[in-house]
Amino acid sequence: MKKGENKGAALQKEKSRSSFSGKLGYVLAVAGSAVGLGNIWRFPYLAAKYGGGIFLLTYLVLMLTFGYALIVSETALGRMTRRSPVGAFGAFGKRFSFRFGGWINAVIPMLIVPYYSVIGGWVIKYLFEYLRGSTSSLAGDGYFTDFIANGFEAELWFLLFGILVLAVLFGGVKQGVERVSKVMMPLLVVLAIFVSIYSMTRPGAFEGVKYFLVPDFEHFSWMTVVAAMGQMFYSLSIAMGILYTYGSYIKEDVDIEKSTKQVEVFDTAIAMLAGLMIIPAVFAFSGGDPDTLQAGPSLMFITIPKVFASMGFGTGAGIIFFLLVLLAALTSAISLAESGVSTFEDQLGFSRRKSTLLMGAVIILFGSASALGFGVLDFVSLLGMSILDFFDFLTNSLMMPVAALSTCILVTRVVGLDKLAKEVEKSSEFKRKKMYCFFMKYLAPVCIVVILFSSIANVLGWISM
Ligand code: PHE
Repeated sequence: MKKGENKGAALQKEKSRSSFSGKLGYVLAVAGSAVGLGNIWRFPYLAAKYGGGIFLLTYLVLMLTFGYALIVSETALGRMTRRSPVGAFGAFGKRFSFRFGGWINAVIPMLIVPYYSVIGGWVIKYLFEYLRGSTSSLAGDGYFTDFIANGFEAELWFLLFGILVLAVLFGGVKQGVERVSKVMMPLLVVLAIFVSIYSMTRPGAFEGVKYFLVPDFEHFSWMTVVAAMGQMFYSLSIAMGILYTYGSYIKEDVDIEKSTKQVEVFDTAIAMLAGLMIIPAVFAFSGGDPDTLQAGPSLMFITIPKVFASMGFGTGAGIIFFLLVLLAALTSAISLAESGVSTFEDQLGFSRRKSTLLMGAVIILFGSASALGFGVLDFVSLLGMSILDFFDFLTNSLMMPVAALSTCILVTRVVGLDKLAKEVEKSSEFKRKKMYCFFMKYLAPVCIVVILFSSIANVLGWISM
């Protein structure tokens, strides 16, 4: 015990000597990738749809246990092997199962970024409309539905977002973008606090605050857990290879436990603020209409304009809000696309240019299908879902559980929990080591298998969640 403490103190000293900005830079980079549309657009609509407070509670429990264990594992594996997912799995074995584990982690971001760019396009469209002063027409019922049903327009805005992302990758100005985003992040927090207070104090909004914060077991369903887990992966950028790559960039002075905690707190705070902006507004402006609560991906685009239209300086608020959301979306999309590009470079041996072009082709192909899925392609139904919803479901509810399971198996069966813990201990004491081992050995695999099977059973119509 004493020995451990001494070691901790010595490390503490050593740490304070090493560059602080390096560590902070790492936390900011991970937070920049983590905070995106997942927090502002996806979290509130899922919370509204899958039970409010009970969804929030499930999310928090999963994040603090399972999510925590996975972030620590992925980061430590990245740092241990100094490789991104395909290479990291490959470092432990050459069998098919290792290749599969690496590739499933690497392919997920490639499938997310196209539909992510479609939502990014919607954000640009709204920013553009606020700049034109269309504040009240944006708040009209049916505005959003009409917009996405107009396939041509949705496609155009999607392409614009996609081109912005690719331009950054081509231009190699990624660092510049990240620097901008670090200034924008605090602004986003301030604006979100302001808007959420405004939203919560509207007449009738209190019901919404209650719905979002107070768990009601009546609203619980299996889908609450499935959705909360998918969202946890998505929002924290887990189970998609990203953290392996980030981990591979850090030195041994980064305290993995502490930075994980900081990222979780920050990411969740933003998601909760977004929930407090949007869900009370559903009650204040749409009378808690069950249809609006179930609106899904369109929720933010329906309720936020109503909030802005009802307040003074609504146009200004709209411009700032959508600009900040756009920046958060861009940093995340860039980090997703970048991970695809580096996989092509490292694994297929393509040049940077060729890899970026290939990523661009994937974005345009799948993204266009998702963008047009509400318009000219609205007759296409994949497992009963629109194309965009299908990609979201495929990645979050099916592929990410498999990717997370691969990481669990790699850690518990191949690398060994002890070796992983040693990696974490290189920089600090591993305070929650016992809990970590328990989560990795028992909790995580059980959760994942249950979720995976319920998602599949749901799709096949065996159970209804
Ligand atoms: N976590 C991001 C969000 O919440 C999405 C993302 C995932 C970004 C993976 C980058 C990498 O929007």
